[in-house]
Formats: sequence, C-alpha cells, structure tokens
Amino acid sequence: MVDDDGHFGERVAEQYDESSAPEFQEETVERTVDVLAELAGGGRALELGIGTGRIALPLARRGVPVHGIELSRAMVEHMRAKPGGEEIGVSIGDFATVRVDTAAEGPFSLAFLVFNTIMNLTSQEAQVACFRNAAEHLAPGGCFVIEVMVPELRRIPAGQNIVPFRTGPTKWAYTVYNTATQDATCHYIEVTEDGRGETRTIPFRYVWPAELDLMAQLAGLRLRDRWDGWTRTPFTENSAQHVSVWEKPIG
Ligand SMILES: C[S@@+](CC[C@H](N)C(=O)[O-])C[C@H]1O[C@@H](n2cnc3c(N)ncnc32)[C@H](O)[C@@H]1O
Repeated sequence: MVDDDGHFGERVAEQYDESSAPEFQEETVERTVDVLAELAGGGRALELGIGTGRIALPLARRGVPVHGIELSRAMVEHMRAKPGGEEIGVSIGDFATVRVDTAAEGPFSLAFLVFNTIMNLTSQEAQVACFRNAAEHLAPGGCFVIEVMVPELRRIPAGQNIVPFRTGPTKWAYTVYNTATQDATCHYIEVTEDGRGETRTIPFRYVWPAELDLMAQLAGLRLRDRWDGWTRTPFTENSAQHVSVWEKPIG
C-alpha cells in the first residue's frame, strides 16, 4: 500500500538496513563517502532521498554538513534513532520539487542521489525537474552526483519482458519491463514464517546515461566525470552501473 511515505513506509523502513545489507557494507559506504567528501570540497552537501542515513551519517562524521530531502517520515525516523541522526536537517517532501532555504547558510557545493533513487521518479518530466531542482541548490562550481544502474535490457530474453533478480525458498523478486515507455515494476514476494504471503510492488522509470546528460544540460549542468562505480574505474559499454558527476559552470 502506498501512503504519504511513498513506497518506503514503516514496514519497509524497519527492514530497510537489513534488506539492503550489501549496500551497508563498510567498504562500500567508505568508498562512497570518500568520493562525496572530496567533491564537497569543504562545502555543504544535499542528499536527495536521504533514507535512513546510510551515506549521510558517515559523511557528516567526516565533517561535511549534510541536509536531506526525503518523502518518507518513517525512513527519517529510523535515521533519527541512529547516533548523529538528530543533528541532520531534513526537508520532508519530493526531491524533484522541494526547495531547501539556502538564504542563511548559502548554496550547496554538492547534491547527490545514490542507490538508483533517480529511478523512483516515474516520469521523464519528474526526472528533468529533479535535475533542475538539484542545480538550483548548487553554488557555481558545485556538483550533482548520481549513482544508478545501466538499464539491464540486455538481460531480457527475446520475446519476454521479465528479469528475475532474487530467487530462494521463501523470497522471490523480479522486474517487469515496458521498453516502449521505459517503465519498470519490481515485484517482491515473500512467504512469511506463518506460511502466509506478502507482496510489494514498486514502480520505476529506467534511464540511460545519455538521457541523464541531456537532463543535466537542460538544468545548465555539464558532465565532469562518469565512472563504473565509486572506485572511479572507467565507465565502459560493459558497465552495469555508473557514478556520474555534473558540474554547475562558474560564470
Ligand atoms: C533506495 S532508498 C535510498 C536511501 C539512501 N539514499 C541510501 O542510499 O540508503 C530511496 C529513498 O528515496 C526516497 N524517495 C523516493 N522517491 C522520493 C522523492 N520523489 N522525493 C523524496 N524522497 C524520495 C525513499 O523514501 C527512500 O528513502
């Protein structure tokens, strides 16, 4: 069920850290924070979709002041319960449109949107608005960073539109793709201990690197770097994901 917390209500929020365990591995988080702290360059950082603070909290511990925009109060409450979570400012709302007041502390030197979260915006219009919103929060010379998968259409067997990505005795998950509209829907099915079933469905809009570059261009940003991941290895035609950095030109 979708409520004001979007697809990340309390039921999801309470399991989020455990169900995203690979993303919470110390090495993964440290690598991410290394890159983001360097890009912040001593300035402030804005995380779009801050969630339970997986990246924001360690980034703040590095001395980077972080502010978040987040739709789900439930996710934010779980961040608040962690050490340092109370100190991070969060604006509740849609990161495609919510404007954080920068009058007192000035613009951000970094805005970032990680873990495929750009795909949570399910229309091209909303994704374009998100780039514009991020750009408007940046100081000249500031960067907008996105981490997102490359659409996995090469994994779709001919004549089909479904890609399973989790199989097991009690948990299954698969994505249904519509290649005409760039819509994708992830279905999660779990058999609970009492033998009942639970299902969850999340809609996405998958998006290509070149399309993101055009969105950046519309927002007045230009591509500075594109890597295969947080290790900054080069992005290639075989990359399954990318970390892209667009900058707001000075002057
Ligand atoms: C995959 S989680 C990522 C959370 C965190 N950034 C991380 O890396 O662990 C996506 C988060 O973005 C939030 N979100 C999704 N769409 C949003 C929107 N349009 N505006 C604000 N937050 C949104 C969700 O509520 C959720 O907390």
